[in-house]
Amino acid sequence: MLSEKDNRVLTQVGAGTPMGELLRRYWMPIAAVTELDDAPTKAVRLMGEDLVLYRDKGGRYGLLDRHCAHRRADLCYGYVEDHGLRCHYHGWRYGETGQCLAQPYEEMAHPEARFKDRIRLTAYPMEARAGLLWAYLGPAPAPLVPTWEPFTWTNGFVQIVFSEIPCNWFQAQENSIDPVHFEWLHGNWSRTLRGAGGRAPTHLKIRFDEFDYGFVYRRVLEGQSESDELWTVGRSCLWPNCLFTGGHFEWRVPIDDHRTLSVGWFFDRVPNEMEPYTQDRIPYWYGPIRDPQTGRWITTHVMNQDFAAWTGQGTIADRTQEHLGESDRGVIMMRRKLLDQAEVVARGGEPMAVIRDAELNRCITLPIIGRDRFVNGASRASFKEANSTPGAFLPEGFPFVAGQPEEVRKAYRRAMGLD
Ligand code: FES
Ligand SMILES: [Fe+2]
Repeated sequence: MLSEKDNRVLTQVGAGTPMGELLRRYWMPIAAVTELDDAPTKAVRLMGEDLVLYRDKGGRYGLLDRHCAHRRADLCYGYVEDHGLRCHYHGWRYGETGQCLAQPYEEMAHPEARFKDRIRLTAYPMEARAGLLWAYLGPAPAPLVPTWEPFTWTNGFVQIVFSEIPCNWFQAQENSIDPVHFEWLHGNWSRTLRGAGGRAPTHLKIRFDEFDYGFVYRRVLEGQSESDELWTVGRSCLWPNCLFTGGHFEWRVPIDDHRTLSVGWFFDRVPNEMEPYTQDRIPYWYGPIRDPQTGRWITTHVMNQDFAAWTGQGTIADRTQEHLGESDRGVIMMRRKLLDQAEVVARGGEPMAVIRDAELNRCITLPIIGRDRFVNGASRASFKEANSTPGAFLPEGFPFVAGQPEEVRKAYRRAMGLD
């Protein structure tokens, strides 16, 4: 159980709130690079701020206030030029720093006034990495966008999957440090939904350890032992808002206090027979979360089951009403750490896991179960034999999110040599 005050601190993400300020010290993935090939501007709401994301014809990314400084037109209807984004209403043009670069009628009427020099929109740095577009809303100087180890891997098929979830970010992130839910929400519930019998292996033991980039959670399942990688290596609850399983990342990016953008980055290693494989375009797609027929949440896929659990806790879970037990030790550790790090920021300090060392950032290693398969691959036959490591065992379909478009399915199967 949590006090009403701590619950508020953990869940509010606006500028000037303790957690909003902590989260603003980290880069957040907000879109896919290929998304802007399809449309060069995108409306973005991030931590309660309404913004427009664009890529101009010179290849520069910008993230600006959604509304024009002139008379507040919506800049996501603006159009990109060689440099910057031009408002569709009276043609004011802005660069990626937010500086107004052109005011056509003002420059004709009063060229000497240089009115544009005094106009600057709120603007945030953007960077592309691993097929994702990252935004930084914190104070300068911006840290580095983390080069997590899987971003350096080759011979893989990557896809990026977004889902908009109508609940607060923090109940989503609590799920990143909750090993026991896997047995019930995924293992046993999936069996029940399919009408299959039997039970998923039960958890015999769990443990949580802090490391430089968050927490590692470990488990021993029925039929396994402490020599298994699920215990010796574990999986990561990545600081501050991500789950990292080894083969994929799931960021829980706050749209505002009531909505979360789930951003999944999935890596599937091609079997050795398909090497060398280079992906010319990282596909992205948006997964539906509700079944239009029944109006109920979709429950057929792993992450959809998570979404159903999170939204079921309420838009903002009322943690004053909960009853925590032994399985929730990790959740408690993470809450404490977030409250502690929010205080560090409030006192003017630098919180944990902010990366500023370029040498270190060439490749940040993480605990990875089955690393060798991701890095060196394996033959098709031996991929098929392995069955304990999602992302490394050549699945026929995509088990994580419902609604994968046919062209992505085909591209995946071609890459893997499944067709
Ligand atoms: S409102 Fe944008 S140029 Fe007038
Ligand atoms: Fe889950």
